[in-house]
Amino acid sequence: MNIKFEILAPSHNKNYVELFKKLTEYLLEDEEATIEDIGNWLSCESVIAIALNEEDLIGCCVIVDNKNWDKKTPALLDVISISSEYRGKKIGDRLINLAISTYFKTNKKDILLFVNADNEVAQNLYSKVGFIAIGSFYHIMGYGDLINQMQLRKSIYEQEEK
Ligand SMILES: CC(C)(COP(=O)(O)OP(=O)(O)OC[C@H]1O[C@@H](n2cnc3c(N)ncnc32)[C@H](O)[C@@H]1OP(=O)(O)O)[C@@H](O)C(=O)NCCC(=O)NCCS
Repeated sequence: MNIKFEILAPSHNKNYVELFKKLTEYLLEDEEATIEDIGNWLSCESVIAIALNEEDLIGCCVIVDNKNWDKKTPALLDVISISSEYRGKKIGDRLINLAISTYFKTNKKDILLFVNADNEVAQNLYSKVGFIAIGSFYHIMGYGDLINQMQLRKSIYEQEEK
């Protein structure tokens, strides 16, 4: 297996358009992201990290900057997904670390995310890379179901203060 990790950005990839098309297809099949979300990520200075096995896109992690939102709102880790047959091979670990370190290099210091309380695998990954639970609440979904979500935060303010 020859897995490559890349940050998807016009300046980094000659084949940006082709990769972005793959990302769109991957997310629309695999995740709850909409085509509007994907378009918004482009205009929000998002960090989009991707994992490729040869030509196949097998995972992605998206951190959306707060540029277009309330200034107090930190960035949001909006998506992390690894294709099911590639899970458990440390690909998610490498991808999220690449996305986070790229994001923090831009002088940003805070990332939030939401995770379902029953998604133990994702919670383990987030805790491993330094996210801490800061809240928990219930959401009513469109179809009427109630889901319990946790809000997690990773910040480098605390590290600087020590
Ligand atoms: C969550 C997800 C991205 C993890 O990616 P992955 O490549 O399988 O994870 P890795 O192999 O890199 O493992 C990283 C850490 O995740 C946790 N983890 C991974 N698989 C696990 C499992 N089966 N059970 C418990 N913890 C697990 C562990 O903490 C692991 O670190 P460790 O092996 O040192 O203990 C992947 O399972 C996925 O795409 N899930 C579906 C989408 C999803 O739930 N996204 C999060 C929405 S908020």
